[in-house]
Amino acid sequence: MLRIGLLTSGGDCQALNATMRGVVKSLSNNVKELEVYGFMNGYKGLIYGDYRMLTAGDFSGILTRGGTILGTSRQPFKLMRVPDENGLDKVDAMVQTYHKLRLECLVILGGNGTQKTANLLREEGLNIIHLPKTIDNDIWGTDMTFGFYSAVNIATDAIDCIHTTASSHQRVFIVEVMGHKVGWLTLYAGIAGGADIILIPEIPYDINKIAEAIAKRKAHGSGFTILAVAEGAISREDAELPKKELKKKMEADAKQYPSVSYKVAQEIEQLTGMEIRVTVPGHTQRGGSPCPYDRVLSTRLGSSAAQLIMDKEYGYMVGIINGRIKKVPLEECAGKLKNVAPDAQEIQDAKRMGISFGD
Ligand code: F6P
Repeated sequence: MLRIGLLTSGGDCQALNATMRGVVKSLSNNVKELEVYGFMNGYKGLIYGDYRMLTAGDFSGILTRGGTILGTSRQPFKLMRVPDENGLDKVDAMVQTYHKLRLECLVILGGNGTQKTANLLREEGLNIIHLPKTIDNDIWGTDMTFGFYSAVNIATDAIDCIHTTASSHQRVFIVEVMGHKVGWLTLYAGIAGGADIILIPEIPYDINKIAEAIAKRKAHGSGFTILAVAEGAISREDAELPKKELKKKMEADAKQYPSVSYKVAQEIEQLTGMEIRVTVPGHTQRGGSPCPYDRVLSTRLGSSAAQLIMDKEYGYMVGIINGRIKKVPLEECAGKLKNVAPDAQEIQDAKRMGISFGD
């Protein structure tokens, strides 16, 4: 009998179900006796023993369904070693649940924080496989995470819609794209949507350069400008602050503005006198069906994870490098963030054609 556990943790994204389907369909097609335990709402389910036994049928018809049939929650890694409100040792509880159910392995779908806890459970002696999900595409060791291209499609659609109205008005439009720490989603949606200015956390902006880019467009006869701004976009002055001061500044900004785009909007308005509109697609970027690319990626990652289980190879993240599925040791990738390099080819290509990054 092969008994496996499955859980989805952290913010959701579009292809979680497609990935689990890839794992379970591949196993049930190749293994005679299989038991699948689905832990509910992320690590919570593993800590408190909240699980459902699932059959292959539960994974039928979910390739195109967004969200996660298991539910998810955020359980910060830094709190994993802190006992819960009843004094329960969470790590110990997770290890006990695993052994009590006599699992052969645990397949964990999630982003960076989830991956760190997955590695911690590996260190505790559990057989773990991690599958990289996030619309942010910021997991080190894989070229692509599932969810990313589906979110790029949605953010691009938002910019496309803004484009038609922007061209009728002499205004500046800001579309705020998800991503607090990294700018992959903003960069790709910005390029795909034809944004004139793209602001990402990795390239701190100078508001004067943004005003110059808007003025330059005006001088060339374009009365409107579209900015794609990452949630984590940061000004040069702020980026230079020591950590503690930056934290204080961010807290003060959060009281004054709903999000960074409103701050940028106010600064642009003061400098240019132009009318500004802000659009925040927010969580729509994580919603709906996975795009075909993500369905294929998820199916491949899930199927390859099943192969690792059948080969009894544990302690890996299953990623994709140059189109080939690769297993990456968890101890190698856990805790590392994949940022956009400020001199990345995508940035150079965009700058060459006049897109401003506010630097
Ligand atoms: O999961 C990644 C992400 O979507 C980020 O892009 C975004 O900044 C954050 O999650 C939003 O988190 P929450 O769903 O907790 O508001």
